[in-house]
Amino acid sequence: MSFLEVRDLSIKHSDTSIISEASFSLDKGDVVLLEGSNGTGKTTLLRALLGILGTGIKCNGQVIIDGSENVITMKENELLRIRSKIGYLEQKDNYDMYYGISVKEVLADSLEAYKNARLTKDDYSRIEEVFDKYIPSEAKLSLKSKVNKLSGGQQRIVSIIASLCLRTDAKFFIIDEPLNNLDINTIVHISNILNSIRIENPEALFIIVSHCKIFPFINKVATINDGKVEISNTGIVCNACFGVPDENGFYK
Ligand SMILES: Nc1ncnc2c1ncn2[C@@H]1O[C@H](COP(=O)(O)OP(=O)(O)OP(=O)(O)O)[C@@H](O)[C@H]1O
Ligand SMILES: [Mg+2]
Repeated sequence: MSFLEVRDLSIKHSDTSIISEASFSLDKGDVVLLEGSNGTGKTTLLRALLGILGTGIKCNGQVIIDGSENVITMKENELLRIRSKIGYLEQKDNYDMYYGISVKEVLADSLEAYKNARLTKDDYSRIEEVFDKYIPSEAKLSLKSKVNKLSGGQQRIVSIIASLCLRTDAKFFIIDEPLNNLDINTIVHISNILNSIRIENPEALFIIVSHCKIFPFINKVATINDGKVEISNTGIVCNACFGVPDENGFYK
């Protein structure tokens, strides 16, 4: 059995069909670019993989992650357990209501959910190390910054550090439009971060939604067309904007 098995998955928003009897499987070590025009159902599909169905959504079929029970029919506490072990970057950063909350507190919350335990002094030191390691040097951002007062791009960087960089040993990464709001240097920086996580953690499955063809380390492309999900083994890298990556997939 593959790491991720999706069988006859159908998703409707009210009575509109978004995904129609999708069946596919993905393995550990796959790095998949999920493509499709705006509104085709990429985010809806990824949320269904996590059992996030939302009001008005009807879902049928099976999603099995690493031999789990069917995520679609799973109880909420078991879903929370599975989700907490996944690096999930949501498409939208929702920090508007985070009055007075600092970047450090956002990172601590994410790490606490991942560990499912109170944080220790060492964990707080790790948050500082991870922040220093992954933050782009040009980003005017500190652990003390208040997240609701950051720019769109700065908020994106915080979300990437919280949901991906603090969880580099996760088995599954679901990454929805990581490059939204980022400037070109930061896009390159994020591509390099994802590549280093992948190299450190070759057993993980990555599904990345992006319209930017920067990632040299993609080994499969999944496309949503009329509600059907098709998987191919090719990736296209555009060297026009970012230059040529080195043989390990890193940009200068
Ligand atoms: N809460 C909702 N109620 C009804 N329809 C919805 C809801 N959320 C999304 N949709 C519809 O579901 C379809 C798929 O949306 P989804 O966000 O999954 O698309 P997407 O492929 O991620 O698009 P994008 O590239 O713009 O992020 C869209 O046509 C959208 O209008
Ligand atoms: Mg989307």
